[in-house]
Amino acid sequence: SPASTDEHARADFVVVANRLPVDKEVLDDGTVRWKQSPGGLVTALEPILRENTGAWVGWSGTADSAENPEIDGVIIRAVPLSSQEIAEYYEGFSNATLWPLYHDVIVKPEYHREWWDSYVEVNRRFAEAASEAASEGAIVWVQDYQLQLVPKMLRMLRPDLRIGFFLHIPFPPVELFMQLPWRREIVEGLLGADLIGFHLPGGAQNFLYLARRLAGYSSSKGTVGVRGKFGVVQVGFRTVRVGAFPISIDSADLDAKAKSRTTRKRAGDIRKELGNPKTILLGVDRLDYTKGIDVRLRALSELLAEKRLDPDEIAMIQLATPSRERVDSYKRMRAGIEQLVGNINGMYGTVGHPIVQYLHRPVPRDELISYYYAADVMLVTPLRDGMNLVAKEYVACHSDLRGALVLSEFTGAAAELRSAYIANPYDIEGVKDAIDAAVHHDVDDGRRRMRAMRRQVMTHTVSRWAASFLGALQATTDVTHSGDRG
Ligand code: ADP
Ligand code: G6P
Repeated sequence: SPASTDEHARADFVVVANRLPVDKEVLDDGTVRWKQSPGGLVTALEPILRENTGAWVGWSGTADSAENPEIDGVIIRAVPLSSQEIAEYYEGFSNATLWPLYHDVIVKPEYHREWWDSYVEVNRRFAEAASEAASEGAIVWVQDYQLQLVPKMLRMLRPDLRIGFFLHIPFPPVELFMQLPWRREIVEGLLGADLIGFHLPGGAQNFLYLARRLAGYSSSKGTVGVRGKFGVVQVGFRTVRVGAFPISIDSADLDAKAKSRTTRKRAGDIRKELGNPKTILLGVDRLDYTKGIDVRLRALSELLAEKRLDPDEIAMIQLATPSRERVDSYKRMRAGIEQLVGNINGMYGTVGHPIVQYLHRPVPRDELISYYYAADVMLVTPLRDGMNLVAKEYVACHSDLRGALVLSEFTGAAAELRSAYIANPYDIEGVKDAIDAAVHHDVDDGRRRMRAMRRQVMTHTVSRWAASFLGALQATTDVTHSGDRG
């Protein structure tokens, strides 16, 4: 589209995220390919930008690239990062400091001053790019933990804008957040927004407490609701709203694709290729230590050892997208998981029939839907997860009311999908019982559970998520745009 080649085009609606919706790949012969970026943020926001014309400010996934890929109907503004910034801002502060800190310190967060400096510098570059992409009075929606300083920086550059921020990962308990040497700067950075959104009321309430205790603003103390009953922080003359907006998926699209003849045919072929097992178990994740892939593999292994599962009757597929591969904790985790897969197959597999089929690569969307449809039991066992879209995607693919979902209680999704087989991922016996129950579930009970989960997933779609956030952002009054630069 001509919009994406015009360097000066400005938009009334701007999404700012660490990643562009597409990821640049430079092949060995030098040719460039763009493919969908990994993770739930892009899955969720992609349909939103198709509905609203606007601009997307983000990084291409490769070093030193300022090239703007062409995407129909969207103005793309690539923010270049040097290899040093990738190491310090992205792999370092974002993914070896904030990511583990916000996910219950499952691995130990590292605190390095150079990483922080790079985080500040890159956040400033994103704020400048957003400022250049936004028209007078535009709505700018800043996304996720990599860009928590952008709201304040952007407000200082452009007091005319209406700024929203959404955190796609959990906001941690106060006691853990307090570890961060730059805790006050982060709180102040976020408070540059007019509306700050979290998945769950608990995260919003933790933030309200910190705005009071750490930054000294007056903030509301009551409980925060879901998609309403917002908290408030008074920052000078500005009133910042704080709310809970659980994210979702493009449910109707998945539902329709899962019903298609090609999906159903492919799902049948998958079952055949696996040797027609009675039960197909499935895991779908970025290869990340928060996802508890090791938890489900250990549970599976013990269930086989105890003969509660029959190796002749089951097959497990684990799809794992490569993620943050240069970060040490990710390297270690990958080695551990691959060892577990090898162990299980060595112990319980036969030639031509391993128990666990493990793919370390992203799977095309249509193929993924066929796996969801084929799976009798979906295993979602994170130690901590802001939402987990995979759980919702599985439910959206089962209009046939077949299948069972094993779901960790430490995902945001567990607050909504109460009819799943819920388990505490730290309690291995509990996880085993949940898997056992899901594998051996009664058909009628399974249909009842799936129907209840579908009522939730099919009505609370990602477009309603965006509408509720953007509606609340629009409703922040113009009094808050009086040019106060605090
Ligand atoms: P996160 O955002 O932490 O990666 P989510 O579960 O919220 O976790 O979102 C993950 C998204 O990435 C989902 O849309 C899912 O379909 C997609 N995804 C995860 N693993 C794979 C895979 N192996 N192949 C293709 N897509 C995947
Ligand atoms: C999660 C985060 C996103 C991130 C995605 C993929 O969904 O919330 O911000 O983009 O993981 O991770 P990556 O580091 O590859 O962008």
